[in-house]
Amino acid sequence: MGWAMARFPDGFIWGAATAAHQVEGANSNCDSWALEHAPGSFFAEPSGDAIDQAHRFRDDLALLSGLGLNSYRFSIEWARIEPEEGCVSTAALDHYRRLIGACRDRGLAPMATFHHFTTPRWLARRGGWGSDEIVDRFARYCEIAARALGSELAQACTINELNLPNAVFEQGQLRMFDAPEAASRRAASEAALGAGLESFFLFAGGGGYSARAARAHVKGRDAIKAAAPHLPVGMTLAILEEVAIDDDAARAALAIYQDKVYAPFYAAAAGDDFLGVQNYSRSIMHADGRFHRPRDVERTQMGYEYRPEAVAAACRQAWAATHLPLIVTENGIATLDDARRCAFIPAALGGLLEAIADGVDVRGYYYWSAFDNYEWLAGYRPRFGLIGVDRASQRRELKGSAVLLGAIARANALGAPTLQTAGPQGRGAAVGLD
Ligand code: BGC
Repeated sequence: MGWAMARFPDGFIWGAATAAHQVEGANSNCDSWALEHAPGSFFAEPSGDAIDQAHRFRDDLALLSGLGLNSYRFSIEWARIEPEEGCVSTAALDHYRRLIGACRDRGLAPMATFHHFTTPRWLARRGGWGSDEIVDRFARYCEIAARALGSELAQACTINELNLPNAVFEQGQLRMFDAPEAASRRAASEAALGAGLESFFLFAGGGGYSARAARAHVKGRDAIKAAAPHLPVGMTLAILEEVAIDDDAARAALAIYQDKVYAPFYAAAAGDDFLGVQNYSRSIMHADGRFHRPRDVERTQMGYEYRPEAVAAACRQAWAATHLPLIVTENGIATLDDARRCAFIPAALGGLLEAIADGVDVRGYYYWSAFDNYEWLAGYRPRFGLIGVDRASQRRELKGSAVLLGAIARANALGAPTLQTAGPQGRGAAVGLD
């Protein structure tokens, strides 16, 4: 690939992403916190102070902007903004106003996600994502937050990975909660939550979830638009590269799966300003109607196949289905070996350049994640970050991959000559970009 081919379109968004619960710390009024602290919790460990970004955001943003990125994707926490029903915290809104202002001051266009997996406990107790009440409650919160914060935002995502609960459900991952040996842990979690497990977003994919979630997105989007008409709004979707083995039954099973896990959400995205694409790997459908991981491939800390090419495939799928402008709102790799991240990022971006050359309208790329952070049920073990965090001291440490992505962002191009980047100990380490 020559230099001219390797340039990204002018105005390309270069960012890194986080979510409130995974980085802020002490997010004790949300449903995830209750589940994390239930006896025998299904979560490996509680989120606790996370990486204390609630207090350290100015320094964190300075690091990101110093690298050369031009945007930051974060989420605003509903459980802080509306800690009890109808009770709006002006202090919480002020916090996010300061965060957004700090982004702007540092040349980072702020992209806010209004719901990233967590829901206030008062609403979780009433059924959360398993109840139709969520639709109007979510729209009301969107209106409040967009009225207070919308004028300074660059983009808004309503709900993060709106289709993920369907994928989790369809892939049978909720079955673990039905196992007899899980019964007492499940009962303790439901007691802590004050509701069935399906109240929690990640576990909500059965029942009438798709229609309810689609309505929540549309009403939320309309509420944000009413309060901040200039603001581009979209949803984000979890989109795997999915292929079927060469077999009719496998192809048919994949078509049925995709009809359930993507089609309702692509339809609900009609009329949005953009679609957020989030990808981490690929899945292979077999004739038994189930996804199987390929053998003998490199795996990430999440157990996924190392597959940087997958994000471009996800964009091609989303583009074919919607023809909406696309933003890669998450793509990344969990690894202790930052050299693999340094290989992953340019490979993923190279695939995106080819998709762009083929006419796929990709407008930006956010690496997940800006920082090592709280990986939900897996706790703090998986390391996705461009920036490492020593959670005892809360010291941040730039990884070589952070410097690499920053250099690509500054150049708005791939294929520059070898760069000198900070190594794991801050020493220079050579990283090739092509
Ligand atoms: C989520 C993030 C998560 C990441 C890595 C996405 O599903 O939006 O919150 O940390 O994947 O697993």
